[in-house]
Amino acid sequence: MAAQAFHDRDGWVWMDGSFIPHRDAKVHVLTHALHYASCVFEGERAYGGVVFKSHEHSQRLHQSARILGFELPYSAEELDRVKRELVAKQGFSDCYLRALAWRGSEQMGVATARSDVHVAVSAWEWGDYFADKMKGIRLMIAPWRRPAPDCAPTNSKAAGLYMICTLSKHAAADAGFDDAMMFDWRGQVAEATGANIFFVRDGVLHTPTPDCFLNGLTRQTVIAQARQRGVEVIERAIFPNELATFSEAFLTGSAAEITPIREIAGLAFKPGAMCEQAMSDYAALTRRKNAA
Ligand SMILES: Cc1ncc(COP(=O)(O)O)c(C=O)c1O
Repeated sequence: MAAQAFHDRDGWVWMDGSFIPHRDAKVHVLTHALHYASCVFEGERAYGGVVFKSHEHSQRLHQSARILGFELPYSAEELDRVKRELVAKQGFSDCYLRALAWRGSEQMGVATARSDVHVAVSAWEWGDYFADKMKGIRLMIAPWRRPAPDCAPTNSKAAGLYMICTLSKHAAADAGFDDAMMFDWRGQVAEATGANIFFVRDGVLHTPTPDCFLNGLTRQTVIAQARQRGVEVIERAIFPNELATFSEAFLTGSAAEITPIREIAGLAFKPGAMCEQAMSDYAALTRRKNAA
């Protein structure tokens, strides 16, 4: 049976100031964001009905939009309230949320300074981002590289930056892999198509410096939790020829949470104690927040 299309569901979407039936959340074909990628978004999860790091996500949405030259007409606090209400209205406990902001159809053409800015938030129940996550996933090397910070607004969670992620993820799926690991324009290890990456060697965590890709909130959480435990975490340039020296590897992201890796392009990794610790610390934190 085909999976249920995302537009064809019951429930509610919050759009431009009000809750509307899910199926009515539509845009016009001349929407600037569709033609020129003037759209920014957030992917978030709620645990036990509470959105994890909601405010940080709302602030990042604002920052992403600002980098693309537009301001959101709703404050971060208002977005937090919307997310709370949306999760409650749908009766969800654990779910995924997608907040986005985009330039509308008031103007056509590359320049669009006067276009209205639209904002929407939707939510749905979503299990693990990767099937068979606990077995560890297999990554190939992406055919596309993360662009240099002067070639794209790399600090913005901008929809346009996901074009190369979709192409890379499709290439991975076609070759029988779960996802792709992307190098950056210098040839250094960067991240996966929708998550950051960590490696382990001799009890130390190594992760690429986020100087041309998203410094994920999950990444920051994992680093802080590891340091609290006294684990050394080194953020640095990581080169492809080092990969064989690492024993464990895992991905981090709001959707992927913490996902063990068992292969990168023929190199085997064994999900082990460091990855398990990160997973259990993250689970404890997301659950504790919800109890608060
Ligand atoms: C390309 C990319 N990198 C990293 C991340 C991880 O970010 P976060 O942990 O804030 O979800 C995401 C997910 O949002 C992503 O899409």
